[in-house]
Amino acid sequence: MSAALLLLLLLLALAVCSSYGGGCTFPAGWAGSWFQSGSPALIAINSTHIHSKGECYESESYDKFLLYDRREDCYRCMVILEKHKYVLQYKETFCSEKDSMSSICESISGDAPLYSMFRKEPRPEPQPCPFHPAPFTFTYSRGSGDCANPPSRAEACTDDSRLLLRYMACPDVPGTESNVEELVCLATWKEGSTRYLVGQISQVQRRNSIASDEDTFRCFVYKGQHGERSMTYNIAQSGDATCNGLSSPTDGSRIMKLTNSDDEHNRCHFPAWIVEHHKWFSLDHAHQYHFTTKNATLKIMSEIGAAEERRLVCHSILEQRDNRYIKLVAHVTRGCESGHVCLQFHRRDGGVLELQQGAALWDAPQDACAGARAADPALPYLTLVTAAPAPARCPLLGRYTVLGALPDTRRRRQHARPG
Ligand SMILES: *[C@@H]1O[C@H](CO)[C@@H](O)[C@H](O)[C@H]1NC(C)=O
Ligand SMILES: *[C@@H]1O[C@H](CO)[C@@H](O)[C@H](O)[C@H]1NC(C)=O
Repeated sequence: MSAALLLLLLLLALAVCSSYGGGCTFPAGWAGSWFQSGSPALIAINSTHIHSKGECYESESYDKFLLYDRREDCYRCMVILEKHKYVLQYKETFCSEKDSMSSICESISGDAPLYSMFRKEPRPEPQPCPFHPAPFTFTYSRGSGDCANPPSRAEACTDDSRLLLRYMACPDVPGTESNVEELVCLATWKEGSTRYLVGQISQVQRRNSIASDEDTFRCFVYKGQHGERSMTYNIAQSGDATCNGLSSPTDGSRIMKLTNSDDEHNRCHFPAWIVEHHKWFSLDHAHQYHFTTKNATLKIMSEIGAAEERRLVCHSILEQRDNRYIKLVAHVTRGCESGHVCLQFHRRDGGVLELQQGAALWDAPQDACAGARAADPALPYLTLVTAAPAPARCPLLGRYTVLGALPDTRRRRQHARPG
């Protein structure tokens, strides 16, 4: 008998055995550990078992399962819906004596509680947040009135699966306080016309305190609306780590209204003599300068890793001369930090630029290049070259001997000042 035939027989035998055992399996994508609010431990799911619920005994369509609980010797029906690969929602019956699957499942009533499980292991990969384009200003209410003045701000991070929420305190609204939260978006889905988001929220200023899953998982219902020149989002946030009690994006115990405040960012473009090459490199190629999005955005990527990535959006041009020099203010985002910075580009040759970048980030754009700071001659010059600089004749022809040691760290070279 050939090996292939043997394997086929073996597989057939296995298949027959498992159906005789009265077993069924759960979708492979559910395997892992899941958080459920109120449950003392994570809920482990493998192909045949859901921890503390039982083993798969019989299944019908793709969402109905009869589970056998060996410890209690009883059966329960679970209707499990996969809302997103990281979110399962279910309804269940009490564990009861053996009966047909249909009669056990019938006892789930329409108003039975709906439980939500959020995946913990394998660790979910954050998903892009559905609110575009940041930054936004927003108003919020936690039940005691709308906090609109001063407006709060929501800012993008370089990673589009994160959003920084800067809550302001409103003197006229009791219970409001200034606070910074970071939202990491994990899952979005749609039911009818209602859109849901599940994310984790962390307190930026109390980063070292240990926050439990109960404190951080939150569910949102949201609705976006195009205005004439802006985008508005109404968002309701759950009060706990469930999706219960969220019916509409405009009412609930915690609601927000985000309005994008981005036109200021579409004001200027990097000049043609810079963006004629979309990609520039530091001399050691450790940093890549990539001009994208209609010549208004500069992405600085580092070979060290994504954590070092920065995104700069041209905010306003202050001065330019002869296609050789430009001074501008850019809005910078690095991780979830953002602010304004002063940039000065000097064109040295077709394929060579020098960049002077302000050292600090400023909240107000007008502060970035103000006064002596921008003219500070001590600001380092960073030399940038194109990917393939055109070879040119060397200025001093001949054969030379280099005296003294060359610096051997590659990084030092890029800070060399022009002679
Ligand atoms: C699934 O988990 C149960 C207990 O939780 C265990 O007995 C069983 O062997 C596991 N099955 C597989 C295929 O890993
Ligand atoms: C970006 O700049 C380049 C070079 O000046 C130009 O050819 C291109 O049309 C510009 N793109 C946009 C979208 O403005």
